[in-house]
Amino acid sequence: MGLSKSQFVDVAQVLLNAPKGAVDKVDIKAMVDYLGAVTGIFTSTDMNYSDKTETASGVAISPVQAAKCFEETVRTQLFAQGVAQAINDCIRENDAPVRVLYAGTGPYATLLIPLLVVSDNLPVEVTLIDIHQENIDAVHKLINHFNLDHYHIRTHHADATLWHPESSQEHFDIIISETMTALLKREPQVYIFKHLVQFLAPEGVLIPQQVSLKAWLTQGENKDERAELLGEFFCLDKSTSLALSQEDLSCFSSCLAIPDKDWSGYTVKLTTDIQVYGDLVLTEGDCSLNIAFNFSPYDVVLTANETIQFDYVAPSSPDFSILFPKAQWQYSDYALPKSDDVGRLGLMQLKRSFQRAFMIKRGERFEVLDAEWHAELVIYDMLALNCAEVTAKMFELESFADFESWVETSTGALSHTKVEAINDAFRRRIY
Ligand SMILES: C[S@@+](CC[C@H](N)C(=O)[O-])C[C@H]1O[C@@H](n2cnc3c(N)ncnc32)[C@H](O)[C@@H]1O
Repeated sequence: MGLSKSQFVDVAQVLLNAPKGAVDKVDIKAMVDYLGAVTGIFTSTDMNYSDKTETASGVAISPVQAAKCFEETVRTQLFAQGVAQAINDCIRENDAPVRVLYAGTGPYATLLIPLLVVSDNLPVEVTLIDIHQENIDAVHKLINHFNLDHYHIRTHHADATLWHPESSQEHFDIIISETMTALLKREPQVYIFKHLVQFLAPEGVLIPQQVSLKAWLTQGENKDERAELLGEFFCLDKSTSLALSQEDLSCFSSCLAIPDKDWSGYTVKLTTDIQVYGDLVLTEGDCSLNIAFNFSPYDVVLTANETIQFDYVAPSSPDFSILFPKAQWQYSDYALPKSDDVGRLGLMQLKRSFQRAFMIKRGERFEVLDAEWHAELVIYDMLALNCAEVTAKMFELESFADFESWVETSTGALSHTKVEAINDAFRRRIY
């Protein structure tokens, strides 16, 4: 059975007061079902029946997808708590009502509704914006349902990157928007803050307060794997938003220097840390907004003392273009092992091919004749190994013994007859 109105208020209290991560997913699901029943927008609806809007500053996700955001428990909890804390701090410091602007409410005004429904009469003036009329209609239903009319909430069906308040004198103490994905890709968060920050009071706060994008040098994809911080390549906060609003776009480009060390075997990982408000922080592993991105080792060139260039580009689907140093190829005079120099498994060519990858990782270059390459493909084919996967492993692993072990694990034990058949096929193809 679903929640009653008073049970909904109780669960909203839990959401606002529980320690990070201590909110039960079951409670969140019950809240979402309740909000769906009031608004008529259900998270269970097939997303193909709900339209997103492409704008010049990024994609505005569809009403159903925006509703689903509520189900990201830790995100919803920390944002709802951050908004509540910021409003309470502001109430303590001001006599006048706290002016709140919330851009991108979705159908449930998720980041503000929990606070409004648990409070009797907060001294706030609320302005809500969403680009989808369906969301504005849904929010009106919630205002009526929870008897929030006394807040005189103003709603605007508008694009928040273009919207202006009725009076040019109007300013807000708190501006809230969660219109982002990890690495600030695709959605318009940056451009919404860039535009709306001009309406922020001098002492006002943006929520989230800071979104920090960092690059790390790492040897594996695991978050606990040893990683060295290369640096922050972008930070969205009040000061960068103000600079952007003055058309100072310099923060969109940055360079990080690669320290003086042998980085072979390393790749680059990019992370998104979000300071929602004060001590309320979302970091890797907390929610989808913090998903880290790991480059394939083939796509990175880590030449010591050179730089990696980051540029925020393509406003209609914003993303970072990332430029690594140019690979410094040189033809090698290193003599690779001969094809018949076999390892523990007895397979021809494997040692030669592994050693070639090993040297390429270190900046050497080798010419591979077509005949040799095609003969090599015969081996992978007969082993039923995917060529791209084999190449990836050759580049990832640092020792031939480890590579042979990986081949053995992938293929199962190889009989002498099978090895001979593969070697014969290879010889026939290459000679
Ligand atoms: C990621 S959802 C967040 C919904 C809700 N605030 C939450 O945090 O769960 C983003 C919302 O912002 C709205 N939106 C995106 N771009 C917008 C824009 N340029 N102007 C106004 N609303 C926008 C979308 O329609 C969607 O409802």
